[in-house]
Amino acid sequence: MFRKMNLGALALGATILSPLPAFADLTDALASADVSQGESVFRKCKACHVAAADGKNKVGPNLYNIVGASVATVDGFKYSAALTEYGGDWTPERLDAFLAKPKAEVKGTKMGFAGLRKDDDRANLIAYLNTLSDTPMEFGATPAAAEATLPEEDPEFGVLKVAPGVEETFYACTACHSEMIVAQQGLTREHWDESFEWMVEEQGMSEIDEPDRTIILDYLAKHYNEDRPNFPRPLN
Ligand code: HEC
Ligand code: HEC
Repeated sequence: MFRKMNLGALALGATILSPLPAFADLTDALASADVSQGESVFRKCKACHVAAADGKNKVGPNLYNIVGASVATVDGFKYSAALTEYGGDWTPERLDAFLAKPKAEVKGTKMGFAGLRKDDDRANLIAYLNTLSDTPMEFGATPAAAEATLPEEDPEFGVLKVAPGVEETFYACTACHSEMIVAQQGLTREHWDESFEWMVEEQGMSEIDEPDRTIILDYLAKHYNEDRPNFPRPLN
């Protein structure tokens, strides 16, 4: 049940508005990557790419099987000379460098995308792309190993408390990530309110219409405020 959680975010606790810390290295980041977060990062690519076994090339080539593939070899796609010359394979490290700043890693590429600044966005995205493959790579720790490092806990941990407002909250908040991400936070009402704005402005969430917005804020402020019973104690 913990498979989808983002271990980086968990360690960070409640500092919702600050960026997540960079992982020590890509291998660790991939071993603990959050595939469902990677799927939401992939929305930034969808204007130009599909990643499906029977997918077509759009502005950019189909990205199915891309992790570990030879560079610039998707059938029927007309690549820039720059990418063809770059050659070699899309190892996770090279994908990471390319996705951070496409035009710096491959000067002259025609991929019109500025890049993904956050280390963990790239790691999560690469882990997600790796699932869209006939032969996914193994990234270090298996999900079972990652689970084993978690304390054996209270089954309620990471699950939203059943109380008035839980349905509205679950419906509005789990479209993009697990309820764990929400239930592990303890914020004041004001900070929850700011986090909604941040989710809308930075993370592509749609504005929540009234009365749901107030219902959800009431619910979170009551059960996931600072020092409330449903905000888990720090994990040691
Ligand atoms: C504005 C359109 C656009 C966006 C947005 C975009 N790409 Fe691309 N992508 C391209 C184009 C065009 C190419 C071919 C580049 C070349 O030939 O130089 C490409 C090439 C690639 C390649 C190399 C494929 C191969 O066959 O070697 C990868 C990997 C890739 N993109 C991943 C991504 C990912 C992941 C995202 C989202 C974070 C993304 N792209 C966003 C247009 C885009
Ligand atoms: C459209 C997608 C989307 C929806 C809907 C959404 N979120 Fe998020 N949320 C995100 C993304 C993307 C992140 C960023 C994760 C990251 O930066 O690693 C995030 C992160 C978070 C975080 C964690 C921040 C941290 O410090 O790790 C919390 C808490 C959160 N969301 C709460 C909510 C709540 C509460 C709702 C419902 C009102 C909600 N989210 C709805 C996309 C969404």
